[in-house]
Amino acid sequence: MYVVMNELHVPSERKAMLTERFGKSAENMKNVPGCLEFLFLDNEKEDGKQVVFTKWESKNDYENWLESDAFKRAHQQKGSSDKPAAPSNELQAYTVAHSSRSENES
Ligand code: HEM
Repeated sequence: MYVVMNELHVPSERKAMLTERFGKSAENMKNVPGCLEFLFLDNEKEDGKQVVFTKWESKNDYENWLESDAFKRAHQQKGSSDKPAAPSNELQAYTVAHSSRSENES
């Protein structure tokens, strides 16, 4: 298993807008081969980061998605007047050494 997190440094006044833009992503990511989980995380701190968490069956599945039209569609600028939603970002990738999951998880 492989986990990739894209940490977005978002000014607090733009967090609500970005949260809304990610609203359909949970559904979108269900259709991506090898994507086991998607979470959009909002740090509790006022100036905290918003993080896109993705979990994959393999690094290869993640890399295939990076090459896909679905990825390109999700990342193209919506209009030329759009400001970038996240002025900077930092990517973190992990191989999963151990994991557990509750049977009751919704
Ligand atoms: C240049 C770096 C990147 C920036 C600034 C960025 C920012 C964004 C933004 C603003 C969106 C929302 C688009 C919208 O609907 O308006 C988005 C979608 C998304 N991003 Fe990125 N992203 C970057 C690269 C990546 C990478 C490398 C990953 C890998 C984990 C990733 C994961 C995702 C996911 C899972 C979505 C939702 C896709 C969907 O709905 O189909 N992003 N990203």
